Amino acid sequence: QVTRLWGGRFAGGPSEALARLSLSTHFDWRLARHDIAGSRAHARVLHRAGLLTDAELEAMLAGLDRLETDVVSGAFTPVLEDEDVHTALERGFIERVGPDLGGRLRAGRSRNDQIATLVRMYLREQARGVAAELLDLVSALADQAQAHIDVAMPGRTHLQHAQPILLAHHLMAHAWPLIRDVERLRDWDGRAAVSAYGSGALAGSSLGLDPEAVAAELGFPASAENSIDGTAGRDVVAEFGFVAAMIGVDLSRISEEIILWATKEFSFVTLDDAFSTGSSIMPQKKNPDIAELARGKAGRLVGDLAGLLTTLKGLPLAYNRDLQEDKEPVFDAVDTLNLLLPAFTGMVATLTFHRERMEELAPQGFSLATDIAEWLVRQHVPFREAHEIAGACVRVCEERGIDLPDLTDADFAAISPHLTPGVREVLTVAGSLASRASKGGTAPDRVKEQLERLRGEVARH
Ligand code: ARG
Repeated sequence: QVTRLWGGRFAGGPSEALARLSLSTHFDWRLARHDIAGSRAHARVLHRAGLLTDAELEAMLAGLDRLETDVVSGAFTPVLEDEDVHTALERGFIERVGPDLGGRLRAGRSRNDQIATLVRMYLREQARGVAAELLDLVSALADQAQAHIDVAMPGRTHLQHAQPILLAHHLMAHAWPLIRDVERLRDWDGRAAVSAYGSGALAGSSLGLDPEAVAAELGFPASAENSIDGTAGRDVVAEFGFVAAMIGVDLSRISEEIILWATKEFSFVTLDDAFSTGSSIMPQKKNPDIAELARGKAGRLVGDLAGLLTTLKGLPLAYNRDLQEDKEPVFDAVDTLNLLLPAFTGMVATLTFHRERMEELAPQGFSLATDIAEWLVRQHVPFREAHEIAGACVRVCEERGIDLPDLTDADFAAISPHLTPGVREVLTVAGSLASRASKGGTAPDRVKEQLERLRGEVARH
């Protein structure tokens, strides 16, 4: 049977190749319930505009309820002849209420304003779910920080030992970008919370419909200021794609460290059995697959965004069929994050950290050299000179194959008369950590305050 929403001006039907190309139900069917919600709101404004009698509105709403029940149960699904979710649902609607009433619902709306609205409804729901998952991950990082609040580790720049830091400080450095991702999703929602219903194909409607009423019923605080923008704008979809890609990149940076930390060479962490995988040939292997999949999927999320932006580039106003290509990338991004985040949080929550190993390495690689230089500055030595003196200490140690605390008082005095034995007070990891007590620093007291603020952020969102 012919279910197309167009055809009057065509002598025949579309070729099979075109029909296949045009089909989108395999991805837009997930918007079916949003489409039905939109239809309910649309029926009400048609009624309020005097275009439906009370009885007709009642019958329409009852028909939409029946259709929704059958969509949810799976009793009604699209067939190959249904071009898209809208076409399939109109067919289902007409099957339930008859062609006369069923043929009235489409007045004053277009698939162009429908789809623009439905995508926003769907993404706004999904954004809330992703934000909740992100907050679970932040909590897992905060729990690990709390459980290891006094564990020191080597802090790195250029992947080389730089200065000792607290593990908790490092873990929370991964949590704050995730908090910003949650904020990004919330800020994004403010821009996405605009309904395109009422924009029609591009120019608005002549039927006296009330776009604000539809918007309110669908949970949007506002309807589009401009019907062309309403149907053709996709920056909001692309922005969602950016936030998803940013989340992917943030997870990927955590992943890279977990992968390194789980190596024999680092031996900083052991992954829980339930969150690691084995090898089909090497019986001893325990692999960080979740972290690797996260790192890999970051590429996929960036690709979703790149594809979407490329689709939008150079598109003239208003609606073009190219815009149908906006959905698969963001749906893929949503599915990817929904799959990834629970596994990722489980992996982080069950990591076992090896305190002795981390603490043993914390002072190695001359990571206390900056402490010598800053101690000298506090003794009123110009930093330029202090830097040279501390560098000379490192050079002597390297020549002799010893570490900074191994230098004797005589060694220090020979390097510089400024280096009195008092310098030893900063030559311990604990002394180094405690001295970095400025706001945001790695001193234990600051890190405890930071943990409280991080918990506060989780509670606030
Ligand atoms: N399926 C289209 C999309 O996803 C909406 C339909 C608009 N089709 C049209 N011929 N104007 O963007």
